[in-house]
Amino acid sequence: MKTSTLFTTTLLILALLFTSCTRQESTMTKQSFGKTPDGTEVFLYTLRNKDGMEARITNYGGIVVSLLVKDRAGKLADVVLGFDSLASYIKDTPYFGALVGRYGNRIGKGEFQLAGVKYTLAKNNGANHLHGGLKGFDKVVWSVDEKASVPGESLVLTYLSRDGEEGYPGNLAVRVVYSVTNDNALRIDYSASTDKVTVVNLTHHSYFNLAGAGSSAILDHELFIDAGRFTPVDSGLIPTGELKSVVGTPMDFTAQTAIGARINENYEQLQKGGGYDHNWVLNKPLASMELAARVYEKSSGRTMEVLTSEPGLQFYSGNFLNGTHVGKGGVKYQHRYGFCLETQHFPDSPNKPGFPTTVLEPGKTYSSTTIYRFSTK
Ligand code: GLA
Repeated sequence: MKTSTLFTTTLLILALLFTSCTRQESTMTKQSFGKTPDGTEVFLYTLRNKDGMEARITNYGGIVVSLLVKDRAGKLADVVLGFDSLASYIKDTPYFGALVGRYGNRIGKGEFQLAGVKYTLAKNNGANHLHGGLKGFDKVVWSVDEKASVPGESLVLTYLSRDGEEGYPGNLAVRVVYSVTNDNALRIDYSASTDKVTVVNLTHHSYFNLAGAGSSAILDHELFIDAGRFTPVDSGLIPTGELKSVVGTPMDFTAQTAIGARINENYEQLQKGGGYDHNWVLNKPLASMELAARVYEKSSGRTMEVLTSEPGLQFYSGNFLNGTHVGKGGVKYQHRYGFCLETQHFPDSPNKPGFPTTVLEPGKTYSSTTIYRFSTK
């Protein structure tokens, strides 16, 4: 072969290698997830760590669409409930994998007062307001800060919630960073600032099933919650204001217990929630980043630890799932096929002066971190 031909061939091979690498890189980290009804294209971003743990997240609603985690034999499975298509998320979702705001959980009668002004929100949950209203942060298209994101490692989402959106005061600039870390965690860092006094309570709404999404009910999962008290609710799931001891009740998860062990007990709070759907008052000091809960699933060996800077944890046992949602791979999600551990400030805090405050003032920064960390046993 002539030197010039050899040179050209080498160049060609190098060019091919380069394009295939970059192509692989881009398909690995970002792909189209379709368009919203108004024609906005949204994307699916893949984050993956050295160990193969992988999250796929869309900027529609900041939804974690899938989360692959190893079992004790090293086999990956998707441990969160969700849909295969954007259309299904748009049509009807019980907040699968979503970012929830401006106020996660309920606000009684959809009303509160701030600095002498009364604000009225949508009543989208019976007489009450739930998860930010009719079009909460779970249903908006977030901007992706590609410069600040690290391809394959972290995804930075931003959203400007306008003054008056869903009835809330103040332009609220929100930033959420999702990361998949090398210690097998999905980490979520939230921050926000406002130009008018407002309330903020951001959370994440993945439904987990550590045996694999769609495989079974979560009743055998064993749960530990580091909380000696919870906030009892009325029939609309609005806290009464009391912080009640868990001692001697089916709400006591201070010793690791199967979710299903006491779920059908004749206990008034369980009847009100149709199972577990309550806020636990974490023992840890307010705002410190500590372990809040741990879940263990025997058959796979998977363990999930939840660490948070938040004072509360909503443990929801998937009571409203009833087989009507057809999830990934065409599987119907039956009653209690997933559970949520939503780190948060307490529900209805804007109307409960005794609860830790959710008020955000101009010039101050809201910040909150939650880590879902996986291992096996
Ligand atoms: C939260 C609520 C539940 C339910 C789910 C979504 O966890 O506390 O009552 O509304 O969201 O279905």
